[in-house]
Amino acid sequence: MASATQTTSRPLIPQHIAETVIAAKSYADDAVIYDAFKWLRENMPLGVAEVEGYDPIWIVTRHADIRTVEKDAKLFHNADFNPILNDRASDAFTREMTGGSVSGLASLTYMDPPVHQQYRMLTANWFLPGKISKLEDQIRELARKSVENFLSFDGECDFVRDFALHYPLRVIMTLFGVPPEDEPKMLKLTQEFFGGHDPEEQREEVKEDPVAAAKMWAAALEDFFQYFDVLAEKRRAEPRDDLLTLIANSRINGAPIGRDEANGYFVAIATAGHDTTSSSVAGGMHGMIEFPQNFEKVKADPSLIPGLVDEAIRWTSPVKHFMRNATQDTEVSGQAIKAMDRLMVCYPSGNRDEAVFENPDRFDITRSPNRHIAFGFGQHMCLGQHLAKLEMRILFEELLPHISSIELAGPPRLVETNFVGGYKSLPVRFRKA
Ligand code: HEM
Repeated sequence: MASATQTTSRPLIPQHIAETVIAAKSYADDAVIYDAFKWLRENMPLGVAEVEGYDPIWIVTRHADIRTVEKDAKLFHNADFNPILNDRASDAFTREMTGGSVSGLASLTYMDPPVHQQYRMLTANWFLPGKISKLEDQIRELARKSVENFLSFDGECDFVRDFALHYPLRVIMTLFGVPPEDEPKMLKLTQEFFGGHDPEEQREEVKEDPVAAAKMWAAALEDFFQYFDVLAEKRRAEPRDDLLTLIANSRINGAPIGRDEANGYFVAIATAGHDTTSSSVAGGMHGMIEFPQNFEKVKADPSLIPGLVDEAIRWTSPVKHFMRNATQDTEVSGQAIKAMDRLMVCYPSGNRDEAVFENPDRFDITRSPNRHIAFGFGQHMCLGQHLAKLEMRILFEELLPHISSIELAGPPRLVETNFVGGYKSLPVRFRKA
């Protein structure tokens, strides 16, 4: 199916802005990417980017327009094209691999109504706030161990590599029932899965390859599948009270869930569930370092921690985009969108939209209401949002009483990615309370 985004009489985004929004490396520098988004929100909130090597795409940058596109999952599909923006060469590689489809994974992100709801229902209940609150003690135990380890660095460490990266992974793997000794493998695979555009995250054999990201993705996926095949078989033979057992033994239309669909589910949860959360934890701490009055406030009043969590997620916006395609001719904010046009919804931009957030670049844990869209919106809205917030709340509750001050010990570094990313490194110096 060919993309139909025609640019005749449509607002064409200036080339340097279009390239900035699409290029992975722009996202490693907040000043670069947020300036481009600001320009777009002010001048061309729905414009077409024509960048060599890519399909022409609509870039959606305003909070209201992102919600409009995301709220109607029948009018705007995820999966007629690739729901993740890749260049044409990478999509061609995926098609070759899959025998014609750009959807490399049978997971929720790659599904549309009505199939999407059928699969989402399998675990939706498990992820409800009332259900996951029962996991609080288990998660708190992991948070305590993590904080203990952080404090052992005695005053200076990399907040990401030595701390934030490990805890969300431990949580999701514990809920899955994956043994701790396999976690480094899961972490490496996730970083490869999401970090294909960042040279520091690439496998040796794909460096310099124009379709490196697609190849990394495919290689990581294959390793994930082999790993989860074995684990799912174990859970079918010996069911436990964990999420992996629930998915491995679930049924669709009366038949056992297929291998690809079960693995698609595992991979989606394993990958979506921790890089995003660890980046948001790091972003929360970075926000408090840059805007220290927040640190004072939350130290004095721990009931502000849920506000800190939401602001950390808004300010960091670890998911940079998802793609949608129109299923019929329609209109958004006065722009005529044609059937099969592709749209890139830019969550970080929506989360800095001046029409919704006062002083949007300021980190403010008392922001209320905080109507961020870092978890997306509509039927695909993040399945794990309550778990992510629970994990983060518990971690900050356990961490903050133990530190009396914290500051940067070097420049923070962000991952080069236009998809899922955030902090690669956050060197800090801290004093124990
Ligand atoms: C989907 C963000 C944590 C599992 C999404 C989407 C976003 C997102 C933006 C796409 C929404 C859309 O298309 O409208 C985040 C952020 C997180 C986070 C910012 C942490 C701060 C988690 C966790 C899990 C998870 C902890 C699981 C344990 C998923 C799944 C989907 C998803 C399975 C696909 C849902 C669907 O298509 O129906 N997330 N996520 N996420 N997320 Fe998260």
